[in-house]
Amino acid sequence: MTTDCNKGLVLSGFFITFEGGEGGGKSTQIKALAQHLKKKGYDVIVTREPGGTVGGEAVRHVLLSGLAEKYGSTIEAVLFAAARADHVDELIEPALNAGKVVLCDRFIDSTRVYQGNSTELSNGYVEILEKAAINGHMPDLTFILDIPASEGMERAGKRRGKEQQADRFEKDAITIQEQRRQTFLKIAKHEPHRCHIIDATQQIEEVTYQITDICDMLMDKKRNATY
Ligand code: TYD
Repeated sequence: MTTDCNKGLVLSGFFITFEGGEGGGKSTQIKALAQHLKKKGYDVIVTREPGGTVGGEAVRHVLLSGLAEKYGSTIEAVLFAAARADHVDELIEPALNAGKVVLCDRFIDSTRVYQGNSTELSNGYVEILEKAAINGHMPDLTFILDIPASEGMERAGKRRGKEQQADRFEKDAITIQEQRRQTFLKIAKHEPHRCHIIDATQQIEEVTYQITDICDMLMDKKRNATY
């Protein structure tokens, strides 16, 4: 439990994830929200997937370099889940138990979308991996930064520059990227209590404003419910 000195209120851990296709501006928005929450007196941890721990970062290298691609989507899905299990165990769960706010760049919805869309995986496989990896730690709140795939890929290409190559997933065709976008939107439709779609084609400041507004409202609600 952590104390907000300004208001003398207490918050138990709060878990926020950022999701969406390539080039939606997640990193910029996570930075802005972290700053906003820290100013309000919260203890904030920023992390990412795959990664966030020593083990998770090692698996990240294997996955994003494309080393695991030739073994198929099932192995990739298991590796993402392994990295996630370590991340939850080592970092997310302890931080939430200590009353911190955890902001995570990608989490379960990315596996549902990127690996779940593969026809190689049998029905229910992703769900089983998810359950095992998160140990009950569903995000309290998920922002899906939505952008048409063509626009997102263009932004991601500009960000990368000429020297850096596209990673294992960025290099997929635009039709696959657009399918992923639609799957993110479908998840949001099925879980409206958790997922908030944000139009990422808006000005950065407007996106930040919408995110902080939703976040403040839900965190205040949780804080009040704690009392
Ligand atoms: P990253 O460089 O973090 O990309 P981005 O800036 O787009 O978030 O790379 C993460 C990549 O891994 C991204 O293309 C999505 C993919 N991914 C999955 O396929 N499954 C997963 O479960 C996660 C967490 C990420």
